[in-house]
Amino acid sequence: MRKKVTIVGAGNVGATLAQRITERDHVDVVMIDVMEGVPQGKALDLLEAGPVLGYDTCVTGTNNYDDTAGSEIIVITAGLARKPGMSRDDLLAANGDIVKQVAAETAKRSPQAVMIVVTNPMDIMAFVAMKASGFPKERVIGMGGVLDSARFRTFIALELAVSVENINAFVMGGHGDTMVPLPRYSSVAGIPLPELLSADRIKALVERTRNGGAEIVALLKTGSAYYAPSVATLEMMESILLDKKKILPCSVLLEGEYGVQSVFAGVPVKLGAKGIEQVIEVKLNDEERIAFMKSVEAVKSGCAKFT
Ligand code: 2OP
Repeated sequence: MRKKVTIVGAGNVGATLAQRITERDHVDVVMIDVMEGVPQGKALDLLEAGPVLGYDTCVTGTNNYDDTAGSEIIVITAGLARKPGMSRDDLLAANGDIVKQVAAETAKRSPQAVMIVVTNPMDIMAFVAMKASGFPKERVIGMGGVLDSARFRTFIALELAVSVENINAFVMGGHGDTMVPLPRYSSVAGIPLPELLSADRIKALVERTRNGGAEIVALLKTGSAYYAPSVATLEMMESILLDKKKILPCSVLLEGEYGVQSVFAGVPVKLGAKGIEQVIEVKLNDEERIAFMKSVEAVKSGCAKFT
């Protein structure tokens, strides 16, 4: 009997994630949405791709929470996406109600699951999901840092005309305009980034990373990114499902780490079968710490609306 994962939301991010995890052929997939027919149609379409790609994943589309029961992982992508000119925080009220309901309903039916939150404003939505689900902090994780780091890595690779496989980088703080890409902890084939790029060029790439989501929203005009968000979520899911114990930048509830109390923020964590197995505390210099705390404050003010 294969393990099962649930993806809540059959929109661009949820359906693309469903496709990606389905094609990995090692867990069964349930995709749930409020829209009648949409999860069912997309699931059937994914099933029918199986013979060509050779996967035997059982993909179910549903509008019924009972079909999500017994999931190892619940991914919450449901909610409104940004339109040009909107900040992620503009989605707070509408998406807060959706995430509260979805987290409660799915947690009831999969009480041992790990919950991954993608819906924006993500750090605050992860806080909402933790409270609504009643899950311990180790099993509620926000997806933002893996996506932001992937963007930072992409821009570094383009700038240096080198393979993306040579680039290591990570981004801390909230998944928003105050996020903190860390050049000092970024490297190209093990060479620290500041040894390869001028401060000006690094600053430009950091700014483009901060604006990465909005850059795509402005181009698409009708929604936000989904190829990179879905693959970033897949990497987190497989570190948990396959107990890979990867160290990844994720939004987690900090309770004293980095001097932060009771706020979700992106930090490097070890992800394994039990969810968050360790919060890694890297040393920050004064400039990095100030930027990190500014980012945390931005999240804290949003969480206050849900306490
Ligand atoms: C992004 O940064 C949707 O928050 C997501 O593209």
